[in-house]
Amino acid sequence: MSQHRIVKVALDGRAYEVWIGVGMLAKAGAALLDVIPRRRTVVVTDETVARLHGETVRAGLEDAGISAEFIVLPPGEQTKSFDGLADLCDRLLAAQLDRGDVITALGGGVIGDLTGFAAAIYKRGIDFVQIPTTLLAQVDSSVGGKTAIDTPRGKNLIGAFHQPRRVLADLDALSTLPLRELKAGYAEVLKYGLLGDLAFFEGLEHDSDRLLAMDHDVLAKAVERSVAMKAEIVAEDEREAGRRALLNLGHTFGHALEAETGFGDALLHGEAVGAGMALAFRFSASEGICLDVDAQRAVRAIDAAGLPTQLAQVREEHFSVERLIDHMRQDKKAESGSVTLVLPRRIGETFVEKGVSSERLERFLRSEGAV
Ligand code: NAD
Ligand code: GLY
Repeated sequence: MSQHRIVKVALDGRAYEVWIGVGMLAKAGAALLDVIPRRRTVVVTDETVARLHGETVRAGLEDAGISAEFIVLPPGEQTKSFDGLADLCDRLLAAQLDRGDVITALGGGVIGDLTGFAAAIYKRGIDFVQIPTTLLAQVDSSVGGKTAIDTPRGKNLIGAFHQPRRVLADLDALSTLPLRELKAGYAEVLKYGLLGDLAFFEGLEHDSDRLLAMDHDVLAKAVERSVAMKAEIVAEDEREAGRRALLNLGHTFGHALEAETGFGDALLHGEAVGAGMALAFRFSASEGICLDVDAQRAVRAIDAAGLPTQLAQVREEHFSVERLIDHMRQDKKAESGSVTLVLPRRIGETFVEKGVSSERLERFLRSEGAV
């Protein structure tokens, strides 16, 4: 088997391993044989990933005697919809999978979230494995079992917790990823440092250029540390009753920006998280919760990766304070219409602040240029 490191997600009865390394797409069969004992799987992927990596994965599975039928979906967030789910479930039924079979999700967060949700509900639940092919999916969405689709009322509003049986994060898959997507995934890497590990953040400050140039050593360490942090938090709080909410640093502000820009190419999810983390740090500083120097340092690191840190970088037109706050109130963490934010005390230390009033948010958003 190719060289890889393993991070364990320690969940009672549903523990699994995340394998991080190189050359794993080509050895997918050997890496998955013990979790696909029937030697048959349906690989769900999108057109872009199928074109770039589909044949490598098919050959890798077949080398170990695993036959693979491919379901290839259109790329993009719109596939993570009720229509996309209905189409996928129909095709899974046509493939005559039964409960002892295993589905393989090969792609970014869109494919992972949709396929995971289909696996959660297909014949009341079937196993699946994740082969994430974007940096975002490798460090975040493929681990932890959150699966979902979007509705016209918002993102990820319909879903289930359903843990994969294994995750194969092959750094080679990232070699074809557009730089913009790599940077968007890097926002989630920075998130782990900012939310809970100052030393990791300092390493990223030093090495972000090498990481974004795809230096495999730097990338492997960053993916491993990110996954280890996520695994540790998920093992402690799978259903987000407490600490898991910290993984949403930057997401409440970010989500509002995504909603206003149409959840598409104008602002990628990772870019929204970058801008959202900058806003969370500046909000904290403006309230005297963290020091200005910490906020400036966090913003510098986000900016250094070419991610947006200011509202004006996200959209030329002014954002509406009222609309942004409306979106923030609809966030899944909101309680009785009042906004919940993950806020930093310093770099590497964050907490959940409930009941953030509209007045506080309005004052802050106006100072950021919203009207
Ligand atoms: P994505 O799946 O849309 O992938 C981005 C683009 O890159 C797509 O066009 C895809 O076809 C392409 N692509 C994928 N792998 C490639 C490769 N190796 N080479 C070239 N192109 C490739 O987006 P994403 O950023 O991976 O994921 C975003 C989604 O993840 C959002 O829907 C978000 O809600 C979800 N998400 C979920 C969680 C979770 O915990 N479940 C966490 C974070 C984000
Ligand atoms: N991406 C946030 C979580 O998995 O909890």
